[in-house]
Amino acid sequence: MEKKITVLPGDGIGPEVVAAAIRVLQAIGKRYNHDFQLGYAAIGGAAIDQFNNPLPEETIEMCKQSDAILLGAVGGPKWDNNSPELRPEKGLLRIRKTFDLFANLRPVKAFPSLLNASPLKREVAENVDLMIVRELTGGIYFGEKQRTETDASDLNIYTRSEIERIVDNAFEMARLRRGKLCSVDKANVLETSRLWRAVVDEKKELNPDIEVEHNLVDSVAMKLITNPGHYDVVVTDNMFGDILSDEASVITGSLGVLPSASIRGDNFGLYEPVHGSAPEIAGLGIANPAATILSVAMMLQYSFGMKEEAAEIERAVNAVFEDGHFTADLAKNNETALSTDEWTDKVIAEIDTSFVSD
Ligand code: NAD
Ligand code: IPM
Ligand code: MN
Repeated sequence: MEKKITVLPGDGIGPEVVAAAIRVLQAIGKRYNHDFQLGYAAIGGAAIDQFNNPLPEETIEMCKQSDAILLGAVGGPKWDNNSPELRPEKGLLRIRKTFDLFANLRPVKAFPSLLNASPLKREVAENVDLMIVRELTGGIYFGEKQRTETDASDLNIYTRSEIERIVDNAFEMARLRRGKLCSVDKANVLETSRLWRAVVDEKKELNPDIEVEHNLVDSVAMKLITNPGHYDVVVTDNMFGDILSDEASVITGSLGVLPSASIRGDNFGLYEPVHGSAPEIAGLGIANPAATILSVAMMLQYSFGMKEEAAEIERAVNAVFEDGHFTADLAKNNETALSTDEWTDKVIAEIDTSFVSD
């Protein structure tokens, strides 16, 4: 198969983890005889430095010509005091909005070999397998913003149709998984949450095979850590989903292993790790590339329908962990930690070896 992918390395560790993930993608291309055509473009701080624009028109054009997008991360202290329009994060928000990527899938799966790295007790973290379905193009992120000397405001606004489409997506996801859906809101305080809850209740009538519960976000923040095994699909708004997904990474042992897919219901999608640009470790070659490598697996599955290839990446990543190979964020001590490239080499060797033995 021939596929066009726009690659947006971004800032900080973004270029390092993206380079690693691309090497894995190429190994998969070689093994399964796919032609992945890559085009590189600028986003975030790197694009501000080069074009004075966090999402240049050239980048949007290249993305429009491609089947999927792979993104590293954006942001860093260099641009933290820029005006709102010239912040790296603005480029990320704009690309999500431009391509209407309203559904952000953030799977959280405990790797058995990482349980020692999790601060949670083994019996709490083991067997966790949940999916956060985060609304990505609405809510407080995109409402009107105002700022004067004396006050500031961010409008949190959701239309019924914005809620309906993400809730529909979550019901479908629950049906493909274990049939359980937890909708997370703050309906005891927020009007947007009350509309959200009403929509979920209407959809529940249409999906009687799915077990539905409503839960308040503060309580979920607690239960996600005390009893994560309870959850299957968690659907929530843009802001709550952002916060809960970083929290959920604690279960797995590191933010460096959580991938994500931002999709809109057709085959197009943007794939990126859940983590950010980690400026304090940028340039050291020690970042964990697993989240970005697993995001490539999500791209193969969701955008290209390459289920076997996606499963092969997941198998290889798991095998490398099982063999006791870790980057610094997961290693017990620094002497045994592998660099980004060394760890990626192990994943590629796994893929190549299983090819030879087939
Ligand atoms: P972060 O996710 O970059 O880092 C949080 C912590 O996790 C840090 O200790 C970091 O070193 C560690 N970490 C993250 N990814 C790692 C990896 N792959 N391997 C090893 N350790 C890893 O969050 P932050 O520090 O709050 O934000 C830094 C910058 O990133 C900010 O400018 C923020 O806006 C941006 N950000 C971007 C995205 C994105 O592009 N999708 C997401 C989150 C944050
Ligand atoms: C994420 C990030 C972004 C978000 C920021 C960088 C705009 O934290 O993808 O989780 O809040 O959506
Ligand atoms: Mn986030």
